[in-house]
Amino acid sequence: MVKVFVPKERRAGETRVAATPETVKHLVAKGLEVTVEAGAGRAASFSDVDYGTAGALIVTDVAAANGAADLVLRVQAPEPAEVEGLRSGATLIGLLSPFDNLDTVRQLAARGITSLAMELVPRISRAQSMDALSSQANIAGYKAVLLAAYRLPKYFPLLMTAAGTITPAKVVIMGAGVAGLQAIATARRLGALVEVSDIRPAVKEQVESLGAKFIDLPMEESGEGEGGYAKQMTEDFLRRQREIVKRHLSAADVAITTALVPGKKAPTLITAEMVHAMKPGAVIVDLAVIQGGNCELSKKDEEVVENGVLILGPSNLPASTAAHDASTLYARNLEALLKPMIVDGQLNLNLEDEVIAGSLLTHGGKVAHAATAAQLEGQSS
Ligand code: NAI
Repeated sequence: MVKVFVPKERRAGETRVAATPETVKHLVAKGLEVTVEAGAGRAASFSDVDYGTAGALIVTDVAAANGAADLVLRVQAPEPAEVEGLRSGATLIGLLSPFDNLDTVRQLAARGITSLAMELVPRISRAQSMDALSSQANIAGYKAVLLAAYRLPKYFPLLMTAAGTITPAKVVIMGAGVAGLQAIATARRLGALVEVSDIRPAVKEQVESLGAKFIDLPMEESGEGEGGYAKQMTEDFLRRQREIVKRHLSAADVAITTALVPGKKAPTLITAEMVHAMKPGAVIVDLAVIQGGNCELSKKDEEVVENGVLILGPSNLPASTAAHDASTLYARNLEALLKPMIVDGQLNLNLEDEVIAGSLLTHGGKVAHAATAAQLEGQSS
């Protein structure tokens, strides 16, 4: 019988859990034996009793459970000691951030662990239900707006009161991908006037259908790259974009930045000079802070006040503000990826499958993901 282990996450600030009572129940029904570390779901409001009722075994001896497991389900990458304790040949699935955890990747390959990184799941139609980056970015976009609304010394909606009228807040959102579109929808639901900058012309229609205004840019060529993602723009283009956006920002109460070009440092869209031109009391939430930030002044998980403007750079909003639903969606993404791998109660990785092959990080003692292997190569040469 395939033994599955779900440990408690140990990285700082990580409150999510990789399986919920709902997904445990499904895995048990498929004939797997599921072991959950005591307290693994506590920070996400899932009790040991609920995991037990779903059919899991609750354990406190983490090292023994880790060492006995055929399959370990995680949110973030394991610590070196946890990798060392895994059985050679075991399978590990999580948001492993391979480029930030090159030593872990090397260790996983050396230990003969088969690992799959949820962030490598190809963004194709069939894999939508497995897309953890999207499920988590959606939450981040929503919470970023709520965070800004809470810290802004103003209302969001237009209010006509006996004491007179309050004008609606002006929100500028930069980057209208998964996080950005959810941020637009949330800010609109709260009654703000929303303006949006993106470099992919295709999103203009989506932005307008959400009731926001698209800021037109002088595009000599489309910013659409491969697979529906953005491509890297020239420094000259970004300078012109900043000049245009600056006028909108100087009238804004809130800016939410979510601009991303896969595999690259986040483009700088708000310079210190642009922050100085903003109104005192304005709030910037920089979601791209993990990739270096879209705002020149944002600092990871710190609050910066510059010229009366509050700049927030929360690095893990799904965990810090929505652990329960972030875990629920993440666990479902993981279960969807796992589904075709479980055949007659056995774990069976079909390496011909585009989704599995695309997500594979290490296998058979080697680093299977080409871009990560190239980075490791570069490190050692
Ligand atoms: P996505 O790829 O769906 O969207 C990114 C958008 O940025 C695209 O629409 C793209 O066209 C746009 N973009 C690229 N260059 C631009 C430019 N120069 N100007 C304007 N727009 C530009 O990415 P997703 O999933 O929405 O993630 C967005 C960001 O949020 C990423 O940096 C991601 O790491 C971050 N994120 C942060 C979290 C947090 O808690 N801090 C949690 C989840 C995601």
